[in-house]
Amino acid sequence: MKKITHAVIPVAGFGTRMLPLSKSVPKELLPLGNRPAIHYVVEEAIAAGIKHIVLVGHAQKSAIENYFDINVELDSQLRAKGKDALADSLNWLPEDVTVSMIRQGKALGLGHAVLAARPIIGEYDFAVLLPDVVLDPFTGDMAADNLAFMIDAFSKDNHSQILVDNVADADVHKYGIAQLSDASNIDEQSDTNISFKVAGFVEKPKLADAPSKLAVVGRYVFSNKIFDYLANTKASVGGEIQLTDAIDALISEYGVNVTTMRGNSYDAGDMRSYMQAFIYFAEQQLADDE
Ligand code: G1P
Repeated sequence: MKKITHAVIPVAGFGTRMLPLSKSVPKELLPLGNRPAIHYVVEEAIAAGIKHIVLVGHAQKSAIENYFDINVELDSQLRAKGKDALADSLNWLPEDVTVSMIRQGKALGLGHAVLAARPIIGEYDFAVLLPDVVLDPFTGDMAADNLAFMIDAFSKDNHSQILVDNVADADVHKYGIAQLSDASNIDEQSDTNISFKVAGFVEKPKLADAPSKLAVVGRYVFSNKIFDYLANTKASVGGEIQLTDAIDALISEYGVNVTTMRGNSYDAGDMRSYMQAFIYFAEQQLADDE
């Protein structure tokens, strides 16, 4: 049984939808309640069994890597003042988990960013988590269970897995949209993850051209073969090397599955939904404190 232990988290985007906040603070470090957004994404990966996390960033994003490091000076200051519990709470990353950062160089798109992680990922199969999307960590174990389900499904048939969820008509143009060969697999009321074959994806279609309303949420489990397809993918939508195009190539040779999502997701990369997410996370944490 193949176990996925590596994950790539692309953090190189400039966050133009989050200006002016993102002018000096990387959007991934903007707070959701009392923690930066990326904290929840890394926790989700670890809960699903990931041990090696590769952030793909650039010079202005090194603060993200620092967040996952031990700040020795702060640690000793806190302990000298008897605040050991606070110091311990900052060192929450398990000892068997590593977080490293590699730089993307040129900003040529999401597909290019994932390919930039190849020197660290090597021959391993791996997960990709897009940090704009934060899965609701307050509803039981559902958020992390999605990725764990995908990893398990991959280990059974070696089909890469892509998490999808239904979106409103008005949001279809923001996402990669799944083209299904058999729509009968979808049960909107279902409370369990379902994994089934997908015919292809269309990146950010107009509503009229969208093959379904099932949007790519930003969680993937990939066979290592995706790297070969990414290396051969040319720029397309938006002049960028799109992950979606490499996935389509992978589908035609090896087959790819979509996994339906359980729980709720929040878009922390868009100002309006970020603000709604902040309020939700803050309310949950305030209620926990009472
Ligand atoms: C990316 C992917 C898209 C996916 C989305 C999820 O787009 O290209 O397929 O639906 O993330 O957030 P981006 O939001 O980076 O433009």
